[in-house]
Amino acid sequence: MHISKPKSPLEQLRPVLNLLADGEVHSGESLGAALGVSRAAVWKQLQKLTHYGLVLESVKGRGYRLPGGLNLLSSDAVEAGLDAAARDLLRQLIVCDEVDSTNAQLLTRLERDDGHGVAMLAERQTAGRGRRGRSWISPFSAGINLSIGWQFSGGVQLLEGLSLAVGVALARALEEFGVPDVRLKWPNDVWCRGRKLAGVLLELSGDLTDRCGVVVGIGLNVGLRGDSAAAIDQPWIDLHSVRPGIDRNRLAAAMLNRLLPLLRSYTEPGPERGFSAYRDAWLALDQFAGRPVRLQSASREWCGTAAGVDSSGALILDMDGERKLFHGGEVSLREDGE
Ligand code: ATP
Ligand code: BTN
Repeated sequence: MHISKPKSPLEQLRPVLNLLADGEVHSGESLGAALGVSRAAVWKQLQKLTHYGLVLESVKGRGYRLPGGLNLLSSDAVEAGLDAAARDLLRQLIVCDEVDSTNAQLLTRLERDDGHGVAMLAERQTAGRGRRGRSWISPFSAGINLSIGWQFSGGVQLLEGLSLAVGVALARALEEFGVPDVRLKWPNDVWCRGRKLAGVLLELSGDLTDRCGVVVGIGLNVGLRGDSAAAIDQPWIDLHSVRPGIDRNRLAAAMLNRLLPLLRSYTEPGPERGFSAYRDAWLALDQFAGRPVRLQSASREWCGTAAGVDSSGALILDMDGERKLFHGGEVSLREDGE
């Protein structure tokens, strides 16, 4: 006997979303006919769209439309954009409408020894995570929420500087699409025009001294609607406001094309192992180079001038000629005066 899982509220709306994705006006009657339901049932479904932050426009006497349409994720479209190297390294691509957190899902897969080479993209996260228990706001179809699972031997020290190298890979993928003014903020942000465009979250599993796994999670804003972004408590930016029209599937593929080989070369012996291969590129993209900054931990604060990063990815802070190194973890960098 086959028992099918009940559809989530969002999955139930998928057929109507697929119809409205073109951004054109659809009458209630035509939607009802295409979906095989009454006009009243169509109306009920349309009302639910606002719950996901989608703005439905009612066009008098003609019907409804989603202004600007939706550029929905599709596994076929992402796969079509992968190059040969990424195809070789990708064991499974999962594209889903809604999860708690793609990082949480992949950590579970790694713990079951089934997460290596798996990439997951979600249209929406209900509990997207940032560092240290903070949240990542990820409304439906507004960004790219991507996690990749990777298993390797040799202990967690091999990953030194990885969040910075991932930033370099993301900046290069964005440059492919002509996104201007991309910069990196130590240790895990991609900025554009002085605001946060994307964040990277690495999470670990397994025996940290030997065979372990890492989940590389990336959240990137593509078209964040203002009301759903109201909870973001720092200046943010999305791709629509700097370079509109970028296809999310093509961009996700470009990210995988860079990130999968990066993960392999980082964790396997060879000339590109570790952060040193990425340091110069990171320094060239440093948002805060030579600027006055503050570093905050839970209990202390240091002020000085940001002086780049060393070959392990540690931040160099120049405090009146005395240099101090900071290793990711528990410190946050802020522009001095903020
Ligand atoms: P850090 O401590 O590394 O300096 P941070 O303040 O950016 O950095 P993170 O944990 O890296 O903190 O990221 C989570 C933070 O990012 C949230 O607390 C919020 O301020 C912000 N944020 C959440 N969602 C988004 C989003 N979609 N776009 C931009 N910023 C976001
Ligand atoms: C940060 O800036 O602190 C990192 C944000 C990382 C967000 C991404 S979205 C995909 C993946 N899943 C999560 O729950 N978080 C990461």
